[in-house]
Amino acid sequence: MAHATRQARQSIDVAGFRTALSSFATGVAIVSTSAPNGEPVGVTINSFASVSLAPPLVLWNIARSALSHHIFVGARYFCINVLAMHQQQLSITFAKTGADKFSGLNCGTGVGGVPKLPEFAACFECETEHRHEGGDHTIIVGRVLAFEDRKTDPLIFYRGRFLRKGGPYPEDGPQA
Ligand SMILES: Cc1cc2nc3c(=O)[nH]c(=O)nc-3n(C[C@H](O)[C@H](O)[C@H](O)COP(=O)(O)O)c2cc1C
Repeated sequence: MAHATRQARQSIDVAGFRTALSSFATGVAIVSTSAPNGEPVGVTINSFASVSLAPPLVLWNIARSALSHHIFVGARYFCINVLAMHQQQLSITFAKTGADKFSGLNCGTGVGGVPKLPEFAACFECETEHRHEGGDHTIIVGRVLAFEDRKTDPLIFYRGRFLRKGGPYPEDGPQA
């Protein structure tokens, strides 16, 4: 039985697995924090999930290969900025490794002094509660210390594309 399980694991087709995962429609968020040198750091994610109401916990994950991995793993505070429908371009900017992501953004200040985007659908200001190994990602669990809900329509990501009311945008969506 153990042998059969191992065989099944080995036969997982990574591309097909990734495509199947993309059938789960998600929102999109930018997680922001400050590097030890004070520089703002941010990354586009769709791995955000609620965990617990009491205490208020949320999670997301960061790829070990991300330039900002070590910064987020070491960060005490971070903001999860859930993007509004009109923020598709910003999500693409924050998905580019090494880009000058905060250029032109007039950020506010979240808990612990970390940057908080000027616009969002909702923002969760968090203190890191746990870090877990998650294969090629690190899972970060945050305790929500404050939040703001602007009750605007969210940006939605589904099968590698952004959605708008009435259907998908044409071709140019990034791959998660
Ligand atoms: C819609 C979308 C969702 C994404 N979700 C995640 C995620 O949950 N975790 C992650 O590590 N990267 C995710 N990415 C990829 C990162 O945004 C991308 O690798 C980014 O360049 C990392 O930034 P850095 O290398 O400057 O740290 C996502 C990208 C997109 C477009």
